[in-house]
Amino acid sequence: MAARSAENMIDTPNYRDDFPVLAQTMNGKPLAFLDTAASAQKPRAVIEAMDAVLESGYSNIHRGLYRISQDLTADFESVRAKIARFMGVKSEKEIVFTRNATESINLVAQTWGRTYLKPEDEIILTEMEHHANIVPWQLLQKEISFTIKVIPVRDDGALDLDAFETLLSEKTKLVACVQISNAFGVINPVNKLIELVRKLNPKTKVLIDGSQAIVHAPVNVTELDADFYVFTGHKLYGPTGIGVLYGKSEVLESMPPYQGGGDMIERVSFEGTTFKEPPYRFEAGTPAIVEVIGLGAAIDYVQNVGYEHITAHEAALRNYGHERLKEIDGLKLYGLGTEKTGIFSFTMDCAHPSDIGMILDQCGVAVRAGHHCCMPLMQRFGLDATVRASLGLYSNRQDIDQLVEGLHKVKDMLG
Ligand code: ALA
Repeated sequence: MAARSAENMIDTPNYRDDFPVLAQTMNGKPLAFLDTAASAQKPRAVIEAMDAVLESGYSNIHRGLYRISQDLTADFESVRAKIARFMGVKSEKEIVFTRNATESINLVAQTWGRTYLKPEDEIILTEMEHHANIVPWQLLQKEISFTIKVIPVRDDGALDLDAFETLLSEKTKLVACVQISNAFGVINPVNKLIELVRKLNPKTKVLIDGSQAIVHAPVNVTELDADFYVFTGHKLYGPTGIGVLYGKSEVLESMPPYQGGGDMIERVSFEGTTFKEPPYRFEAGTPAIVEVIGLGAAIDYVQNVGYEHITAHEAALRNYGHERLKEIDGLKLYGLGTEKTGIFSFTMDCAHPSDIGMILDQCGVAVRAGHHCCMPLMQRFGLDATVRASLGLYSNRQDIDQLVEGLHKVKDMLG
């Protein structure tokens, strides 16, 4: 395997050096990390920001009268305001901190859903949802018995919006849709979807899962006009354990608390308890303080790189990857007929995805092989698994070359 050379970096800015973990080898080969859709690596700026809190400014927040607590409270709340600006939303009061996108969706299901969904109601999901946007609704459905309808996926991997129009009715209380499929990388026309909802049933709420989308392109939730928008920190080059729920003010205000505990109450007595306004009503207990600071640093990092660079860099690499993967006979890529992001999801005639993943590991290439928490999508295409290679802003041509070299090895061994 050739060492990484300056030549390999010529057409791709070298963000790789910002990520200390990528300096290592894996199984004696340079680490070609192509599993960013599962979780992104962390830039030095994020690691240092989190270390700095732990080393010199740590305390609990919202409670201490002493300086380091008040300073950290201000830093914590400034990240909330930063996220509001980053997402293009009107007020930081619309930003709720959660543990991850999964918890954000569970919060909506257990508060908004439990309060407003009735047995005669319908909600609409898509066939390409992550389990995180299916199972919370099924758990609630067991108690409330509303109907779950599903927008089908076409053979080319795109959502069937014609079918969506026939599913939407006056019974539809919620449409919940992923913006970019984590399994195939398909970019869904969520603008168009929300436009149709507003035209056909303006009372329907819309939840967008932006966990993959916000990593690759800027998002303006006000322009999008989603009622809820969720994402997770760890895919956006930030830490694990921190997620975001955006909710329109009037919708959050109409929702009861999620979990009970400290920091979400106004007054507690055994006669009764009153709750704070959103977003604090939904944030019981000591939050993920250091992780919030890390997420703030990740957003600064992404904005310093600039989405125009991220988008152009990933588009160039995606095209390069598609060209190179064509040279492997018997390799089938999924979701190709549609607008796509930097996710290559594929199968090979000669080997099961798990075997491909293990051989690639020996070649220093990290990919995910499996159902990608999207079993209904896999079933739709008659699959049990695919291999998924996903790009981040640190990916480069060498990573793709190493992947293709590994796939030739798969063919040599198993073809
Ligand atoms: N949702 C993550 C993935 O797509 C874990 O791999």
